[in-house]
Amino acid sequence: PARPGGGGHRLRFTPVAPNQDDKVTVPDGYEASVVVGWGDPVLPGAPKFDFDRQTPEAQARQFGYNCDYVTFFPMGRDRALLWVNHEYTDEELMFRGYQGGAAATEQQIRIAMAAHGGSVVEIERVGRTGRWKLVTRGRRRFNRRVTAHTKMVLTGPAAGHPLLRTAADPRGREVYGMLNNCAGGVSPWGTVLTAEENFNQYFVATNGVPAEAKPAFDRYGVPTNVPDDSRRWDRVEERFDLSKHPNEANRFGWIVEIDPFDPHSAPRKRTHLGRFKHEAATSTLSRDKRAVIYMGDDERFDYIYKFVSSGRYVPGSRRHNMKLLDHGTLYVAKFTGDSPEAEIDGSGKLPSDGAFDGSGEWIPLVRGDRSLVPGMTAAEVLVHTRLAADKVGATKMDRPEDIERNPRTGAIYVALTNNTRRTPGQVDEANPRPANKHGHILEIVERGNDAGATTFRWSVPLVAGDPKDPATYFAGYDKSKVSPISCPDNLTFDSDGNLWISTDGNALGSNDGLFAMPVQGRERGHVRQFLTVPYGAETCGPLITKDQKTVFVAVQHPGEITGASPDKPASRWPDGDQPRPSVVSVWHERGRDIGA
Ligand code: FEO
Ligand code: CA
Ligand code: CA
Ligand code: CA
Repeated sequence: PARPGGGGHRLRFTPVAPNQDDKVTVPDGYEASVVVGWGDPVLPGAPKFDFDRQTPEAQARQFGYNCDYVTFFPMGRDRALLWVNHEYTDEELMFRGYQGGAAATEQQIRIAMAAHGGSVVEIERVGRTGRWKLVTRGRRRFNRRVTAHTKMVLTGPAAGHPLLRTAADPRGREVYGMLNNCAGGVSPWGTVLTAEENFNQYFVATNGVPAEAKPAFDRYGVPTNVPDDSRRWDRVEERFDLSKHPNEANRFGWIVEIDPFDPHSAPRKRTHLGRFKHEAATSTLSRDKRAVIYMGDDERFDYIYKFVSSGRYVPGSRRHNMKLLDHGTLYVAKFTGDSPEAEIDGSGKLPSDGAFDGSGEWIPLVRGDRSLVPGMTAAEVLVHTRLAADKVGATKMDRPEDIERNPRTGAIYVALTNNTRRTPGQVDEANPRPANKHGHILEIVERGNDAGATTFRWSVPLVAGDPKDPATYFAGYDKSKVSPISCPDNLTFDSDGNLWISTDGNALGSNDGLFAMPVQGRERGHVRQFLTVPYGAETCGPLITKDQKTVFVAVQHPGEITGASPDKPASRWPDGDQPRPSVVSVWHERGRDIGA
């Protein structure tokens, strides 16, 4: 990286030890409290949350389930809007005695539909601290719930294509709802970009699917039968039965753009950004001021993408900028190692050139409405992006989750969460560990540090796991001084350019959490754990406010038991009752910056 930053000079907190406690644990001197959780009021008239008397109407006005991506729009010093994704639902934790899809009540299905999507909520600072709380009185004119029923518009080159037309929408331009919104980003013009991930799990096919649709459904994991663990939404809305409406699944799996300051605007599904199990949508500007969006496809052996707009960003012209994501080029990444050795094995030996690193290129898939993939039209490339990327020799990655750009150096970081199915024969220098249980981090420096470039250098600064395991790598830092870390998922930066990593599915057996890692200088690779979330939860949406006084984390699915210790009692966080996924703010009690 060309510029300094990320050297960790101001990170002085005492790391939190691995634990299995049913609470949010923070370093000495820090405090944590819930800002907003499942069932809290969002819209006027929202009834008080009542676990045993929940209704779809109440849920549609209350904060949804399983908070994931979090972002923050300041409105002065002490007020802000918080956008939060509601990725999915855990019915067995939401409903007493839940019996599963075929036996679920229609009421339960409708509540779950209303618990998906996202929320905009107004929040306020408590005193002069870094603590924030939900505004529950007075006019909150931006508060909004987006659910599985919110009317949305398809835009870009694939909008209107026959693959997107259904009986309910013969023009192929309007969709109800967004599903499984996991990570996301903020556009340079201040809109939310939210990423539909595992949309496949909401569909069934009660009587098979058309033969021509099957290869793409298989590639995307979209059911062509009725899976045993299905939520059976088709029992309430026929569109979720692909035997009757095979194109409905094509209308999910997009990046959705939402204006948080216009609660009546229709969210836009931007087809030019491709369709896959979307993770991040991290934006920046190229040197010549075009909008650039980095995206991951979270599946074992899937790809990393970026979109570059053809038009330039114009400061202050929202009308112009709101069209930028409909015209441009979609690329997929190819990584080439530069050492004969590619594998990190039990000996812990590095490649002969001292690093897992190499060069790379962005391969264009579609430019405007012109396809660059033989045998596919532009619309087909955008709807079946995985099939297009398969054809051009993109590099199969270990589950690309979040992607973030270092605000100080311009380097791009990708969390590759894990891939236990990679065999020794499938190892490459960018995915160097076979049976990759703990994941790794990839660092990309584009040519000239320009986000519009089509070539780059890359390296692997972190191969996660127990530092005592020789098949881990902490950028050469003394492994006796780092925190164990497993399954990196979401990323963020502090203002110094230090990388913060949150985890999902800690395969070392203790709770997930949030970690800080300097990326430059002598401290590069010095991973320290900043917090842990309650038992069974994943740590999502980390965000450090610009003033460095608050870190927000979304505590997702507390109470979900993922197999580490199945005999442990389920979480009762945060109320000592049924677990409630919630967003937490963490601050230093004496007002120090986060990490200090
Ligand atoms: Fe929803 Fe890829 O994590
Ligand atoms: Ca190398
Ligand atoms: Ca994720
Ligand atoms: Ca994840």
